[in-house]
Amino acid sequence: MQYTLIAPCYFGTESVLSYEVKKLGATDVEVSDGKVTFKGDEHIIAAANINLRTAERVVILLKEFKAKTFDELFDGVSSINWAALMPKDAQFPVKGSSLSSTLSSVPACQKIVKKAIVESLKKGHNTKILPETGNLYKIRVALRKDMVSVMLDTSGDGLHKRGYRRNSGEAPIKETLAAAIVDLARVRSDSIIQDPFAGSGTLLIEAAQKALNIAPGLKRKFAAEEYAFIPKEVWEEERSKARMAINRDVPFKAYGFDIDPFVVEIAKQNAQKAGVGSAVSFFTADVKSFSPQADAVVITNPPYGERLGDIDVAMELEKTLSKRLAQNPVKASYVITSDAEFETNFGKKATKRRKLYNGMIPCQLYMYYGDKK
Ligand SMILES: C[S@@+](CC[C@H](N)C(=O)[O-])C[C@H]1O[C@@H](n2cnc3c(N)ncnc32)[C@H](O)[C@@H]1O
Repeated sequence: MQYTLIAPCYFGTESVLSYEVKKLGATDVEVSDGKVTFKGDEHIIAAANINLRTAERVVILLKEFKAKTFDELFDGVSSINWAALMPKDAQFPVKGSSLSSTLSSVPACQKIVKKAIVESLKKGHNTKILPETGNLYKIRVALRKDMVSVMLDTSGDGLHKRGYRRNSGEAPIKETLAAAIVDLARVRSDSIIQDPFAGSGTLLIEAAQKALNIAPGLKRKFAAEEYAFIPKEVWEEERSKARMAINRDVPFKAYGFDIDPFVVEIAKQNAQKAGVGSAVSFFTADVKSFSPQADAVVITNPPYGERLGDIDVAMELEKTLSKRLAQNPVKASYVITSDAEFETNFGKKATKRRKLYNGMIPCQLYMYYGDKK
């Protein structure tokens, strides 16, 4: 069966995600703000969850229709064959949102949608009781200009939760954003990557997983693994395909440095858990002594505090990074920061810039291409 699927992503990363989606073999790939829509069967649902590095989640678009009244909303939702999707013991919380629509009360819409699904399931399963004690099916309903989209989540936890990261305390970069940056930095299986502010190692771990072709979702579970309409073998096949695609026999190497020995330890553990411990090395070091090799690509996320004292320190660190890179020219450097004054402190205009979001924080990726190809 063919499904219409939607993968939301951070603003600014849509083109990277659409490339990933096409690589999966999905069809009708369409890009819009903050999401990529595509078509595919059960295998594509499993493959998308296991392999997509820059998607936040994957949802099935069950139906789209116009509704200006609660009756229209109820009828539209009722017309979906819910009993074919969910067993009678399914738990099915409904989460809604409404923008520029006549039906503006989200709680009221959620209630109507829930009621419509309840009625439809009771009828379809020929039962009076729905215990909601079974597997979780998260329903999302979005109203935009009176158009209703009814969606079923397939991911469960957000896809940024790869299962390798222990929290370090310091605001780490989101895994999905790190993966998009790694893609924009053209990380390949023969790249040498260095990060002087490595923190918990996210950028380098994502780079290594890409270089070694390790699927980000290989070690975690997805909500749709428990969905009756996707056979278990589909997940097994897609996992096994992803496992077979891993290539550890590549020259890729990454080196991360951080002044804080505690986060360096965490980064090492994260890399081990992510299966890239032998490709990525971490060291305790101050950026003052950063001396990347000439054939390296630098990808980094320097500290940027909100408080005044922190901002002064951050400014000094940006200047130091600039000096170290002037003394040790590299192939290219990519710096992701929310500091709007970065180019001034760094003392050099970027070859290219790209607006990105780290969670809710607007950032820019400053890209500096070196002279060498
Ligand atoms: C924004 S965090 C990097 C987060 C990282 N991308 C991650 O995903 O965890 C910045 C890091 O710079 C480190 N740092 C601060 N001052 C430093 C210095 N002088 N030299 C090297 N690292 C420093 C901090 O310890 C912190 O881990």
